[in-house]
Amino acid sequence: MLQVVTRFVGRVLFAFLFVSSGLSKTQGLFVNTTAMVSLLQPRIIKFVETFMTFLHLKEVDQPEVTPAIATYLLYATIFLELVGGVCFIFFPRAGSGLLALYLLCVTPIMHDFYNHAPGSQAYVAEMIHFLKNVALLGATFFVMGTPPPQKREKKLKAS
Ligand SMILES: *[C@@H]1O[C@H](CO)[C@@H](O)[C@H](O)[C@H]1NC(C)=O
Repeated sequence: MLQVVTRFVGRVLFAFLFVSSGLSKTQGLFVNTTAMVSLLQPRIIKFVETFMTFLHLKEVDQPEVTPAIATYLLYATIFLELVGGVCFIFFPRAGSGLLALYLLCVTPIMHDFYNHAPGSQAYVAEMIHFLKNVALLGATFFVMGTPPPQKREKKLKAS
């Protein structure tokens, strides 16, 4: 019983980060969509730029990231955060898949420490966020890899 409660509280605490962040983004959208999108759009453009340079694709035309695309990506992010977070509490393995997808997409774009001068304040701040998200990603992988409850019981009985 104590283990069940511990696991449940643990999932709620973990999900809280994603759900609250999703809710605050939703609120931001209602207050001023333009402001939210103009925060995200330059980040995506910068990421595409860095990515293309990294792959030596400078000659190729850079895909244009319009405000409409940035808006749709923002919707997708909020969807993953809210649905993934709530899902994580009740169906942890499915929820952790959604949250892992969210973290994999968002972390390199929003916490681009590699675009800042090493040692600068921005570099350190983004690096901390980046590493925090990598740790969260590790936790979602851990949960994804746990066997379903019935299998867990069978294993306990077998051993
Ligand atoms: C929304 O944000 C944009 C960009 O920051 C700003 O130009 C605009 O005035 C804001 N609109 C409202 C209604 O606050």
